[in-house]
Amino acid sequence: MDKRKIILDCDPGHDDAIAIMLAGRASSLEILGICVEAGNQTLEKTGNNTINLVQYLDLDVPVALGSGKPLKRAPMTCAAIHGETGLDGFPFSPLKIKYHQQNAVELMKSLLDKNEDVTLVPTGPLTNIAELLVKYPEVKKNIKSIVLMGGSIGYGNVSPAAEFNILCDPEAADIVFNSGLDVYMLGLDVTRKALVLPNVMKRMSKIHNKAGELFIRLMKVFNENQLKIFGHSGAPLHDPATIISLLNPKVFTFKKMNVVIDVTGGPSYGRTNCDQFDYLHQPHNAYVAVDINVKEYWNEVEKGLKRYSK
Ligand code: BDR
Ligand code: CA
Repeated sequence: MDKRKIILDCDPGHDDAIAIMLAGRASSLEILGICVEAGNQTLEKTGNNTINLVQYLDLDVPVALGSGKPLKRAPMTCAAIHGETGLDGFPFSPLKIKYHQQNAVELMKSLLDKNEDVTLVPTGPLTNIAELLVKYPEVKKNIKSIVLMGGSIGYGNVSPAAEFNILCDPEAADIVFNSGLDVYMLGLDVTRKALVLPNVMKRMSKIHNKAGELFIRLMKVFNENQLKIFGHSGAPLHDPATIISLLNPKVFTFKKMNVVIDVTGGPSYGRTNCDQFDYLHQPHNAYVAVDINVKEYWNEVEKGLKRYSK
């Protein structure tokens, strides 16, 4: 079976880390490269977290840094959930690997020049991908789809209306959603149902390898911070939804609809306005996840962790 070629674009981030881990050993996926965004923390910190993860998981992939600046708005971070480092809770060994010499946009361009049918998998703000599509629109022919974590049909998680990844760079999201490419949006409507509850912790703690250890240590901090900020136990494990949708298409139900990004700068700035019932009869530009099979979601996480031998 041909492997599906993917490029990750992330801002680790506790849930980004689990997404990278699941993709890292999946037999049906080939990671061509990993690009880094500023988001959960500054670019310096999310970059550092990414190469730490790549080294720890023993992945042989180039890691390239993005610009670290949203297209228009001021940068924002999410230290309350992900901590000062952006990935609090895991003692990585000293680093031996380095970043790729090209920046994120140039790495994606060269990978897309050499490969067809590539799926872009953003789990952070959409700055790098928007910059790529604006600078090199010709690469679109080699992009099969964009499968992203972000947005919400319903309410937000950093403002009443907006989800974090989209609010970090609404103008970039606007470019991506209007790119004419096949965009799959896995938003809060589904990821809020994938909660790292005690039964999940208990189940994953039985996996005695490096992936199990990473999962348990990171999710402990993620859950504690989530409880402090939102007042409920069980953090939503957002970002792995992207990878799981590629591994097992039955986990999510998608509905194609019109999605407009609010770039007005008002109270709904960054909202993904999803016309689920087609009230406005506008072109359907995104496949939006409307349902999740939670049991199968955790089965895929467990299988993904077990793929690491030690
Ligand atoms: C998204 O925001 C980030 O904090 C997470 O890593 C995830 O990508 C959820 O809104
Ligand atoms: Ca993320």
